[in-house]
Amino acid sequence: MTSEPFTLRWGILATGGIAKTFTKDLLIPPATRNAHDINHKLVAVASSNSVSRAQAFLHEINAPSTSKAYGSYTDLVSDPNVDIIYVATPHSHHYQHARLCLEAGKHVLCEKAFTVNAAQAQTLVDLAKDKGLFLMEAVWTRYFPVAREIRERVRKGEVGDVKRVWADLSFWNDVEGVFGGDEGGHRMVNIGLAGGALLDLGIYSLTWVFQILYHILPESQRSEPIVSSQIAKYAGTGCDEMTTIVLHFPKTGAHGVATTSIRVPTTPTPVIIQGTLGTITLPHPIYRPTSYKIIPNSSFESSQPPNSSQPQTSLEEETITHGVEGGGHGMFYEADECARCIKGGKLQSEGLPWEESLLIMKVMDEVRRQGGLVYPEELESCEYPLNF
Ligand SMILES: NC(=O)c1ccc[n+]([C@@H]2O[C@H](COP(=O)([O-])OP(=O)(O)OC[C@H]3O[C@@H](n4cnc5c(N)ncnc54)[C@H](OP(=O)(O)O)[C@@H]3O)[C@@H](O)[C@H]2O)c1
Repeated sequence: MTSEPFTLRWGILATGGIAKTFTKDLLIPPATRNAHDINHKLVAVASSNSVSRAQAFLHEINAPSTSKAYGSYTDLVSDPNVDIIYVATPHSHHYQHARLCLEAGKHVLCEKAFTVNAAQAQTLVDLAKDKGLFLMEAVWTRYFPVAREIRERVRKGEVGDVKRVWADLSFWNDVEGVFGGDEGGHRMVNIGLAGGALLDLGIYSLTWVFQILYHILPESQRSEPIVSSQIAKYAGTGCDEMTTIVLHFPKTGAHGVATTSIRVPTTPTPVIIQGTLGTITLPHPIYRPTSYKIIPNSSFESSQPPNSSQPQTSLEEETITHGVEGGGHGMFYEADECARCIKGGKLQSEGLPWEESLLIMKVMDEVRRQGGLVYPEELESCEYPLNF
């Protein structure tokens, strides 16, 4: 006998670009990706701007006629029919908005970067724990079949001991022309919205480094990395336009190199996972991984000739593809994870536990400290509520 799927009732906080993409995915029936244990219901969307903006959003994504439109975030968090809220405002506002939801007793899926700094993230985690609410940073990448499969293959030792991971996410932009300058400009460079490459894109580079050099390890081998980094600032606003991070993980001796830029394109091979037996590479875009290549180290010119003392492996070169099922963008995988966690009474996701989100925030704090990148005081504050 099959049991009824568990239905998670969603509220969407904000009506911007990613809110639209996520909500469209939410409306795709889970059965199209072979998920039969959970379901999603779009209960309401809220705009801080106006109710008509929320209505236009619902119209544009062809939402069910039962979905409600609210003209304020407070109205949304007061809706008793909403279980979980997807926070999709700029990262400058994640702390205030995620906190608004948690204070109102709602579970939260909060867009990346989780918050502006680790202290804010810690405050949200403590609140979720106190209130018995689910809270997850929306790093959707981790829930793609390709990401799960790579973690599993590396965990099983297929490429040997991983000693180094390179990861880059960058976008080639005419920064001044497209994003603007002094008066704030686009979210990507606006210091008042915690703009810049690090929090927006660098989080994905760090995600690949952490998935492999931290997440999959047994707890006894995990260690907080030592951070060395450089930031190049955008003259127009003072945010970071290029950031390069080298992480040394003391317990394993492994190195992670995470890079990001908003002025040059992603490097041609943006993720390289180098083990003692084999290498895994991923193409762009690393935030939405749908294929990867696994290569025995003997294939590389720099390898020792056969019969040397280099470890031998039966690994063969292969390219593996797992396209996004059901015709969506792939954001539904993280929504499914939320539903399964909440159904199972979990407060956090094993794909990205609180402790790991907090550690990554701490690394980004240190990178900003080393590069002298400070956001306006109200953005860095843990005070609540604050209006800005
Ligand atoms: N997972 C991904 O692939 C992905 C991709 C892009 C962005 N993101 C993340 O998602 C978040 C939003 O990005 P986005 O590209 O959707 O941004 P966006 O298009 O600028 O939308 C942000 C929305 O937030 C609301 N908002 C509330 N306070 C605001 C303020 N002070 N300034 C501007 N907007 C404000 C607005 O909606 P209302 O006025 O209707 O309330 C606005 O439409 C960011 O944290 C970003 O890092 C994730």
